[in-house]
Amino acid sequence: MDLPLTLRTALDLALEHVKPSELARATREVSDRYRQTDGQPYYLRTARDVLAYAAFRLPATYAATSAALHEIKGTMPDWRPNSLLDAGAGPGSASWAAVDTWPSIIDFELVETDGRMISLGRALMAADRNLSAARWTQSDLNHWSPDGHCDLVVMSYALGELDEPQRSDLVRRVWEQSSGVLVLIEPGTPAGFEVIRHARADLIALGAQVVAPCPHSSACPMAAGDWCHFSQRLARSRAHRDAKRVSIGYEDEKYSYVAVARVPATPASARVLRHPQIRPGHIRLELCTNDGLQHRIVSKRDTLSFREARHASWGSGLPSHPRREDRTQHAGK
Ligand SMILES: C[S@@+](CC[C@H](N)C(=O)[O-])C[C@H]1O[C@@H](n2cnc3c(N)ncnc32)[C@H](O)[C@@H]1O
Repeated sequence: MDLPLTLRTALDLALEHVKPSELARATREVSDRYRQTDGQPYYLRTARDVLAYAAFRLPATYAATSAALHEIKGTMPDWRPNSLLDAGAGPGSASWAAVDTWPSIIDFELVETDGRMISLGRALMAADRNLSAARWTQSDLNHWSPDGHCDLVVMSYALGELDEPQRSDLVRRVWEQSSGVLVLIEPGTPAGFEVIRHARADLIALGAQVVAPCPHSSACPMAAGDWCHFSQRLARSRAHRDAKRVSIGYEDEKYSYVAVARVPATPASARVLRHPQIRPGHIRLELCTNDGLQHRIVSKRDTLSFREARHASWGSGLPSHPRREDRTQHAGK
């Protein structure tokens, strides 16, 4: 997966005056700070840090969000959202992914606390006819009062940055704000998954229906110490490689997510949780199903399921629906 050309070009433009060595230094400092603190306190201290974030994280959060949104779209192919709330928007990565998934979105509202992120996000969006009209609100989500409803609400890589006691309240408020679908995305780490697992339980208690990735709205069956996550491969631009001081032209972003809806959806009947193991005459699948976690062996004799299993990949829903071809084929654990 790659960024849309307009975003890629705008990002290159925003980064063109930053020396590769400065970008690499800022990237290293931001990564170290983030790793040491899990995002709290806030790890972006300067305008250079914000540019480094855009160079080395925006492509990855865009890719993860885009992958999650395409899975959700598969469960509700006839749904056409018109409005989006991007909460904890950063430079607006999720808004770009959302309009790429649903070009029907024409109304964009973004809430972000960091003014430097907003300036960068506005500069990037100036290049796009629809996104340039986006409304940005500089606000701390903890004290922000929503105004009206949006068809789609996305909070990508932001919920985990709030203090834990404040998350449930914000989850309730963003759910109330959504008239269609709410999507929460976090890093595909044990900590990121715990944020999603808690939010999922809060949302189910509020009466929400889970539409992806889970095939059910029952309690999450994932065992303690394990975590439900997926992976999306993305292309690294020159600036991205410079920032990380690497030469490989791609990386795999791990992410966890949950989507809940107020509108009709047909969740997958099972979700593939690991890379399928292809053996002579059969395929082994690790699945999340309505009956909990299952280890399923699909034999070649079972023609219909075998054909389905052969096309399955880590993260896909069964029965499958059209999906992006470039999802990574790598198991993460
Ligand atoms: C890791 S970035 C993710 C940005 C973007 N959603 C993405 O996917 O690339 C987290 C963003 O959440 C914002 N944020 C964190 N806490 C916030 C709060 N209490 N209110 C508003 N924004 C917040 C940060 O300023 C930062 O821009």
